[in-house]
Amino acid sequence: MTVTTAEPGSAAEDLLPFRDPGFRADPYPYYARLREKHPVYRHPLGLYVVSRYGDVARLIRNPTLSVQQLDFGPAAPIHHTVLGKDAPDHTRLRRITNRWFTPKAVAKWSQVTRASVEAVLDEVENGDGTLDVADGLALKCTFETTCHIFGIEPTEMDTIRRKTYEIGLSLGPGGNDEEARATAEAFAWFADHIGRLVAGKRARPGEGLIDAFIAARDEGRMTEEEVVHSVFLFFAVGHLDVKHLINHGIHLMARRPDLFAAYRDEPEARPGIIDEILRIDTPESMVVRLTTQDTVVGDTTVPAGEVLALLIASANRDPEVFADPDAFDHTRPVAAGRHLAFGSGMHGCAGQVLARAEADIVFSAIVNRFSGVEPAGEPAYAHTEFLRTVTHLPVRFLRSPDSP
Ligand code: HEM
Repeated sequence: MTVTTAEPGSAAEDLLPFRDPGFRADPYPYYARLREKHPVYRHPLGLYVVSRYGDVARLIRNPTLSVQQLDFGPAAPIHHTVLGKDAPDHTRLRRITNRWFTPKAVAKWSQVTRASVEAVLDEVENGDGTLDVADGLALKCTFETTCHIFGIEPTEMDTIRRKTYEIGLSLGPGGNDEEARATAEAFAWFADHIGRLVAGKRARPGEGLIDAFIAARDEGRMTEEEVVHSVFLFFAVGHLDVKHLINHGIHLMARRPDLFAAYRDEPEARPGIIDEILRIDTPESMVVRLTTQDTVVGDTTVPAGEVLALLIASANRDPEVFADPDAFDHTRPVAAGRHLAFGSGMHGCAGQVLARAEADIVFSAIVNRFSGVEPAGEPAYAHTEFLRTVTHLPVRFLRSPDSP
């Protein structure tokens, strides 16, 4: 196995040009080249990029790799959440949230998602049948569900979406000064906003996740900073990736009437379709870790103290595991469920049951009510280095011939 090395700042060719519009529009050919020729690639920014499924799947479960020792720069408050902690602090915080995100709780919250989706679709049916589903449906229903879980009113949706995105700008490699400033300002905004939400809950307690965090704080199981930034984390993860999953699913159905029909007519195929959507267009392209000791990747030894970028989006298109990986095929013999879109190991996604349920509620409501979906304009994407998200997706919902 070769390691391609380029010293930080050198003029060597950048095989993973994070900011290049061509890369952002379609990163998959770049990933394919890395997997084939440079499976452990030293990026000009200094990080080691790992792109093959086998390596990524093994490393993502390697307990010697640290997130606590990573330098998140202006996004340093992430260290007050599960995403920025190693054991034992990670175990302590994760226990508090794991109690919440159970299948039983998700089934209860699903009623909120369903009501939100049906209300949007009522408006579509009463209107001209078109909608920009990115914010109008995907964001709206996931945001309202998150606020319900918190036990708060769904206010400030647009600001929270924008501020979350500004924090994401500094989570990947290579952010600039302007982005660092935006991230710092966004964290300050969240600290203020969430501080007021927490004060409100202390004055008028309820039964939501914020109340559970406050109780944990009062019992000495969380710090005040961990309360504030854990609320921030759930605001963010509650919509960012789920929104992409929902949008991408609708986008695919708009281009593939056969997929729309499969979702409608074959309920048993639905989980596999959702997994294949996650595999083929993975919302988070990478997870990042720090080596705490010499770490062997193939025939390469990465020294201690180096940053590893584990490209889960590339792993999910590795032909060694998924035959014909660029084709959408929810009937593929190797279950798409082996994908790494939710990560794996101790930091594996805490909200995947909820994410799958929300996506299924949206897709099922659409196929039950309409006879099809078609594009009503071009989709637009926003990128941070590690996250792909849809900002605009105009579609037209087609009425069933027998509808009034
Ligand atoms: C399609 C939707 C989603 C995708 C693709 C996704 C993806 C991921 C990934 C890749 C990680 C691992 C990060 C790492 O290893 O560094 C992760 C962690 C996490 N996710 Fe999700 N996620 C989704 C939805 C959600 C939802 C709805 C929630 C909760 C409301 C959630 C909560 C979390 C939390 C708390 C973690 C951190 C776990 C830890 O560090 O122990 N996610 N997610």
